[in-house]
Amino acid sequence: MPGKTVIGLEKIKKIYHMGETRISALNGIDMTISEGEMVAIMGSSGSGKSTLLNIIGCLDKPTEGNYFLDEKNVSELDKNQLSDIRNKKIGFVFQGFNLLGRVAVLANVQLPLSYAGVEKKEAIAKAKKALDWVGLSKYSSHYPGQMSGGQQQRVAIARALVNNPSLILADEPTGALDSKTSIEIISIIQRLNIEKGITVVMVTHEKEISLYCRRLIRLKDGRIIEDAPVLNPRNAAEDLAALRGETDVGT
Ligand SMILES: Nc1ncnc2c1ncn2[C@@H]1O[C@H](COP(=O)(O)OP(=O)(O)O)[C@@H](O)[C@H]1O
Ligand SMILES: [Mg+2]
Repeated sequence: MPGKTVIGLEKIKKIYHMGETRISALNGIDMTISEGEMVAIMGSSGSGKSTLLNIIGCLDKPTEGNYFLDEKNVSELDKNQLSDIRNKKIGFVFQGFNLLGRVAVLANVQLPLSYAGVEKKEAIAKAKKALDWVGLSKYSSHYPGQMSGGQQQRVAIARALVNNPSLILADEPTGALDSKTSIEIISIIQRLNIEKGITVVMVTHEKEISLYCRRLIRLKDGRIIEDAPVLNPRNAAEDLAALRGETDVGT
C-alpha cells in the first residue's frame, strides 16, 4: 500500500534574475513523493538539482507553481512560516557538512533545537541520543576540525535528525568523501529511511550512489527526463560488510 503523499509539486518553475539575464533553473516540475520513499535526484551540473532540493526544503520559493508539503500548500507562505515548517519537519545534509567549526560537536547537533526554542537540558539529551544513533557518542566534546570527513558528515546527520524530522534532504552528501566512507554514510541514510521510516530525497551525480535508493529521478535543463524505480536497490550495510571482509583477509 503506498504511503500518503509527503511532497507534491505542480508545474514548479524557478527563474533567477542576474541583472538583465534570466536563468530558468526549473522549467515545470511535476512530481509526487510518498511517505517512506528513498529517492535519488540525478543530473549533470546546472540541471537544477540543488534548486529543486532547496524548494522542497522550503529554503527557497518557486517563481511559479504549487508546492504541497504534507498536503498543505506552502508556496504562498512567508519566510517565517517557511522556517517554522523547516524546523519542525525537515533535516538537511550537505556536501560540505556545514558544521560550525568554533563549537563542539554536541553544540552543533543541538543547533536546530535552540532555533526551535527547546529548553537546554532537553536539547542536550536529544543531541546525545542523536549522536549515539550515528555511533559518535564519544565525540561530543570534539571540534569538527579534529574529525575525518566521514565523521563530520555523521555529526551533520545527527544534527539533521535531532528534531525528529519526517523528511531528510541531502545534497550530494557523499560528494566530498572517498568511496568506502560514502557507503558508510549511505548505510546510515538507509537506516534512517528503513528503521525510522523517514522519507529521504538525495541529490547525487554518482550513479553508484543512486543505486542505494529505490527511485531515481533524472533532471536535464530543469525538466524531469526520467522517473523510474531502481531495480534491486543495493544494501549499503551488506556492501560495507563485504568491503570489510575483503580488507580483513589481507591483514
Ligand atoms: N542563486 C542563483 N542565482 C542565479 N543563478 C543560479 C542560482 N542558483 C543556481 N543558479 C543557476 O540555475 C541553474 C541550476 O543550478 P543548480 O540548481 O545549482 O544545479 P545543480 O545543483 O544541478 O548543479 C544553473 O544554471 C545555475 O547557474
Ligand atoms: Mg547542486
